[in-house]
Amino acid sequence: MARKAIGTTITEHLLKQQRSHPQATGSLTHLLSELIVAAKVISREVNKAGLVDILGATGDVNIQGEQVQKLDIFAHRIITERMQHVGQLCCIASEEYADLIDIPPNFPKGDYILLMDPLDGSSNIDVNVSIGTIFSILKRQSSGSNVDYQLSDALQPGYRQVAAGYFVYGSSTILVYTTGTGVHGFTLIPSVGEFLLSHEDIKIPERGNIYSVNESNYAYWDNNTRDLVNYFKTMDAETKRPYTSRYVGSLVADFHRNLLKGGIFMYPADTKDPKKPKGKLRLMVEANPMAMIVEQAGGYASDGHGPVLEVEPQSLHQRTPLFIGSKQDVLLAESFISGNRR
Ligand code: AHG
Ligand code: MN
Ligand code: MN
Repeated sequence: MARKAIGTTITEHLLKQQRSHPQATGSLTHLLSELIVAAKVISREVNKAGLVDILGATGDVNIQGEQVQKLDIFAHRIITERMQHVGQLCCIASEEYADLIDIPPNFPKGDYILLMDPLDGSSNIDVNVSIGTIFSILKRQSSGSNVDYQLSDALQPGYRQVAAGYFVYGSSTILVYTTGTGVHGFTLIPSVGEFLLSHEDIKIPERGNIYSVNESNYAYWDNNTRDLVNYFKTMDAETKRPYTSRYVGSLVADFHRNLLKGGIFMYPADTKDPKKPKGKLRLMVEANPMAMIVEQAGGYASDGHGPVLEVEPQSLHQRTPLFIGSKQDVLLAESFISGNRR
């Protein structure tokens, strides 16, 4: 067979994955393909964000007289408007919107639900540190074309996700996704406008030597959490400690590094904000998609007491403590947090 001029495109890969699920109709492939188009638009905007800020600085009004959008609202709009047209969704959930978002009445609808964090790591936009988009796809449980979807259709535990992934807008733009048959990474080649397979069947090391946490929250942690972080910092030749510390404050970037290199990312519960007793990260749009990816890569995600993927959600925007990464490191964290460590 003739050698291909370029590598495997994301479209080829999605179709191959689709063929490996005999019952697949192509709906999920179509949905993911459209999401990728939206992410390419966001990637283009992210790459010129600094420039746009300078141009918009005089009054935050662009030449059409419109308010200059903050990138996270822009990302929310680009994805929502595009995905409302695809015909495969019954509703959308976004970190940027309180309720489920309907598909307009005259548009075709389907049985999938898209949940997303349109722009993750937004505090890093202005300083050129990697940011991203996180997505999770569920299939509604109630069915029938005349039946309106319910909130309960979206409030499904993470193990029911049919696909999950993220885009990192970093030194290059990368897509990492899973449909339940491994984790695959693609790099956007800007001159061609295509995502090409760059990281096939990613497996996270069983154990790493990186811990990633916002340690300035130390004063707000309970003793089990403090003991855990102290453990990673303590010298011990046999277990190759101390670990090294890496944290940029964008979940996508911190997670992506640890997925490739091994290690643990943590956002524990803390007492910093009484309104967020379970820490900062959201179960449905941050923890669950990353948990599906990490488990497909051979790792583990815990809320400190058990698998994140088994948490029964009560509300769309609920938060959860998160310990995620190499299996051995996360199991160890769980034993500290749940107080089972001798
Ligand atoms: P978002 O920008 O979507 O609100 O998410 C930010 C999150 C996540 O990306 C990151 O891991 C965490 O906030 C960082 O929080 P701290 O600044 O408290 O460390
Ligand atoms: Mn986020
Ligand atoms: Mn966000």
